[in-house]
Amino acid sequence: MDQFKKVKKVTTHTLQEMKEAGIKISMLTAYDFSLAKVVDAGGVDVILVGDSASNVMAGHETTLPITLDQMIYHASSVVRGIDRALVVVDLPFGSYQGNSKEALNSTIRIMKESGAHAVKLEGGKEVYESVQRIISAGVPVMGHLGLTPQSIYKFGTYTVRATEQDEADKLIADAQLLQAAGCFAVVLEKIPSKLARQVTESLTIPTIGIGAGPHTDGQVLVLHDMLGINNLFQPRFLRRYLNLYDDIKLAVNRYVDDVKSKNFPNDSESY
Ligand code: KIV
Repeated sequence: MDQFKKVKKVTTHTLQEMKEAGIKISMLTAYDFSLAKVVDAGGVDVILVGDSASNVMAGHETTLPITLDQMIYHASSVVRGIDRALVVVDLPFGSYQGNSKEALNSTIRIMKESGAHAVKLEGGKEVYESVQRIISAGVPVMGHLGLTPQSIYKFGTYTVRATEQDEADKLIADAQLLQAAGCFAVVLEKIPSKLARQVTESLTIPTIGIGAGPHTDGQVLVLHDMLGINNLFQPRFLRRYLNLYDDIKLAVNRYVDDVKSKNFPNDSESY
């Protein structure tokens, strides 16, 4: 029985209690008011305003182009739509790397201008100082390890990460560092299930997996992928709950036909 369904506002403390009670954490992305409202009403625990907005909303090939201003626009739209979920916002590429003061400034802008509850950033040891600085200013931080899409040009492909022992060892050490720095949770993206289990069992804070198997403390998917709005992308880890691309296309076809055939609007739809 998930006693956490009754929680009025999910906080980082709720997520910690969920891990301790063995209740899985659900997380989905959202980037706008209308869908955030539906996702929140659907009972998701965490809404991630992901920099995947760069791909999904803006049509870029990578997450690199999205700006801090654009992330704030998406985040403030999402915040206006939610009652219960914890809203976490990605720090976009170029807003935190290599400079912890800039990381804090970017975070402060997100928190002040959007009203979100926490930020997420990618990397381990490289961002340790930034994580500490942001947390010391009172803002909760979610880490992100494994496939970190802001480093796509370093990786070269979107394939599974940490299949070799040296990368797996670094990931385990980075997860410990993020926890020591004070992160409230860590996303593990596209890593072997066995490694995700090992990391999850070694941490006291929750892990949230995407393409990381069933043993993480929670799961996250990109909303538009799980709704089937984007039908070009079919990685193995993605479960599609709807096929909205086809459904929306059919509805648009019907509307176009109704307009062309003068069937819309009819008398009852007119003033
Ligand atoms: O930007 C995003 O959507 C993400 C998730 C894939 C975890 O970071």
